[in-house]
Amino acid sequence: MNPTYPTTAQLLYLDLMKGVLTRTTVCEKYTSLTAHERPTKAIYRTLLPMMQKVLKSKGLEIVRLYRCDPEKRAVGLDWPPEAETMVGLKRLDNVQQCVMDVVASGVEGDILETGVWRGGCSIFIKSVLAACGDTERTVWVADSFEGLPKPNAAEFPQDHDDNHWTHSNLAVSLEEVQENFRRYGLLDERVKFLKGWFKDTMPTAPIKQLAILRLDGDMYESTIQVLEAMYDKLSVGGYVIVDDYGLKGCKAAIDDFRRERGIADPIMDLDGSCVYWHRAAKAFEMAAPARKPVQKYDVVLQSEMKA
Ligand SMILES: C[S@@+](CC[C@H](N)C(=O)[O-])C[C@H]1O[C@@H](n2cnc3c(N)ncnc32)[C@H](O)[C@@H]1O
Repeated sequence: MNPTYPTTAQLLYLDLMKGVLTRTTVCEKYTSLTAHERPTKAIYRTLLPMMQKVLKSKGLEIVRLYRCDPEKRAVGLDWPPEAETMVGLKRLDNVQQCVMDVVASGVEGDILETGVWRGGCSIFIKSVLAACGDTERTVWVADSFEGLPKPNAAEFPQDHDDNHWTHSNLAVSLEEVQENFRRYGLLDERVKFLKGWFKDTMPTAPIKQLAILRLDGDMYESTIQVLEAMYDKLSVGGYVIVDDYGLKGCKAAIDDFRRERGIADPIMDLDGSCVYWHRAAKAFEMAAPARKPVQKYDVVLQSEMKA
């Protein structure tokens, strides 16, 4: 099937997907007690795990009421108890526009997300491809599936005080992510999983060409290792999306890489943390000349799509 611009019904499906994957359509009511707070009193720290173990064996769990702040959720500022993605609605809108743009413009290559957590953003990427009737591209889903690495301060001093690795709720198993794809009817042979630390999986990944590279690994290490292995595979006209430019380690990695490679494509800010750039001709990168920013892609997209 030739890729096409989604119909009204398909666009409504994508809106519903965004609402469900972020749980902004139907909000979460409860959150697990331990997921979001660590008891400070020693007695609770000892008692709580014991109580939870007993309750779990009876199919019960201690929860507290949870009130989602829609403004925070819209821009990916909270860690949702149940939603399959923490990136928020605005960043999913950006993903949709980028995917629809590369499909409409015939930019060749697959789509890679590095750092997927429960898989929601990658699931959404797959749903946009489905809505466009694109059956050729692979969605690559890369993660340790066991959380973030401990900082390697000797090699990456920018990460020396990074504590993401201490958050056990950032560790989501491969099986859980696959099951999430399956529940949305989006698990097929064009979804491929790269399990392991990026330092090991990126240099050997069997990816030939990329149209979109979405980085969501939070740290300097987890950002630079992906860029070094993958940037040269990104097609001209493709997109780099950086979820965590608001975090100092990630920002330093992006700034270092762009400076070293002379990348002059303008960085577009989405919401104060997530940024993206549209890859222009390679020649610009080598010479890094001062030039006018490219036209904002959503304007290009609207006019091109509706033509
Ligand atoms: C903030 S979460 C990603 C959020 C996700 N994109 C979403 O849609 O909600 C960061 C993820 O990156 C993964 N990660 C970070 N650094 C990594 C590394 N060096 N190697 C493998 N996985 C890594 C973690 O396991 C975690 O799942």
